[in-house]
Amino acid sequence: MDFDPPNDATRVAVLGLGYVGLPLAHAFSSCYPTLGFDINEARVEEIKQGEDKTLALSPEELASAGDINYSHEAADLTGYDVYIITAPTPIDAQNQPDLDPVRKATALIARYVERGNVVIFESTVYPGATDEVCVPILEEITGLQVNRDFCVGYSPERVNPGDSGHSLLNIVKVTSGSSEESAEFIDALYKNVIPAGTHRASCIRVAEAAKVIENTQRDLNIALINELAVLFDKLDIDTKEVLEAAGSKWNFLPFSPGLVGGHCIGVDPYYLTYKAQQVGHHPEVILAGRRINDSMGIYVAEQVIRLMISRRIHILDARILIMGMTFKENCPDTRNSRVNDIIDHLLSYQCYLDVYDPWVEGCESDHLVQELKPAEYDAVIVAVAHSEFVAMGAEAIRGYLKSGGVLYDVKHLFPTAQTDGSL
Ligand SMILES: NC(=O)c1ccc[n+]([C@@H]2O[C@H](COP(=O)([O-])OP(=O)(O)OC[C@H]3O[C@@H](n4cnc5c(N)ncnc54)[C@H](O)[C@@H]3O)[C@@H](O)[C@H]2O)c1
Repeated sequence: MDFDPPNDATRVAVLGLGYVGLPLAHAFSSCYPTLGFDINEARVEEIKQGEDKTLALSPEELASAGDINYSHEAADLTGYDVYIITAPTPIDAQNQPDLDPVRKATALIARYVERGNVVIFESTVYPGATDEVCVPILEEITGLQVNRDFCVGYSPERVNPGDSGHSLLNIVKVTSGSSEESAEFIDALYKNVIPAGTHRASCIRVAEAAKVIENTQRDLNIALINELAVLFDKLDIDTKEVLEAAGSKWNFLPFSPGLVGGHCIGVDPYYLTYKAQQVGHHPEVILAGRRINDSMGIYVAEQVIRLMISRRIHILDARILIMGMTFKENCPDTRNSRVNDIIDHLLSYQCYLDVYDPWVEGCESDHLVQELKPAEYDAVIVAVAHSEFVAMGAEAIRGYLKSGGVLYDVKHLFPTAQTDGSL
């Protein structure tokens, strides 16, 4: 199947207007007539009103979009050349991949795919998912055949929420296609809108694998440092000081201990381990890292309880403040935040919990408070490194503690001497 190079008449529809899809649709609209489609009508309305609750795009950026329409009406998907799927890829309660949203999005666009079209997947999946899960759905519903009538591609997203230094436009984009010609077309399609350029992978499975190992590598590196933090606590050595000393070597990687939540680093490795087990390989290192990182919330809660007991603070009915409930700093995303593990574990001790997070709307948790009172709490846990908390400083945060209360600093935001414990 041959393709003309993409040009300003190439019509692009992006399905899913979340953290990944909205900036992507916005970028494509600078070059191509673009549709931003989402099944969530409220999300589409919000974007049409010029607001993006994910904060991926500012109101000014939204207003400066090129040739773009937004819709939640399936019929509006008719007549596009390129369909790009950015549906979520969560895991279920058993840590198994849940490809249902991707399957449903694929089945939806299959009703509109015609001869000559290209369907590109951006959702993070395991190697082989595009060929094994998505292509059969497309072929069955369209009655067409891949690489004869239409082509598919995979181009993973690498954006980092809350990190304004790394956005879609300044990160090299990996691209791939189901045939030589479609790979070339897809690469050119992205190259036209991504100033950082592209890396054309040899095939879709390579591109899928590359994305999933990027986050698996980060997960394992953090797991190692988390394990070391637990060990150094037992050895009564300051982890931060050890990391600073080791970091003076040129090739020591700068990772720090912490909670690993969110929809990427804590989730993607399970996609890889699922696939590994499917082909009879038991992934020992990857799953060990996952176990360590998934246990850190309970570890933090236990550390705080221990510190409170050492100060003869009565645990039952103690009042504890958790500062931060998002999965990482300076973003409003609470999905799969491991702060919930701290909350649940402390609640099991029948403590009273308040959670304060200037990035999160009050309706997201019964424990959220909008204002803090001085001398109210037996313990304060600074769980997320929001810049607001850094700006407050340890002494101001101590002001919320009753006399003798415990300040625990999960992310080492403050000098060790100003807190009572940290990871
Ligand atoms: N958020 C990130 O920083 C990031 C970074 C890299 C990769 N990813 C990956 O990108 C994918 C999307 O992540 P996200 O964070 O943007 O998710 P998200 O939840 O923010 O957005 C997904 C959007 O897709 C919509 N949607 C669901 N089913 C749909 C359908 N059938 N048709 C149209 N829209 C549909 C949802 O309503 C939602 O608005 C995931 O696979 C994720 O792992 C995310």
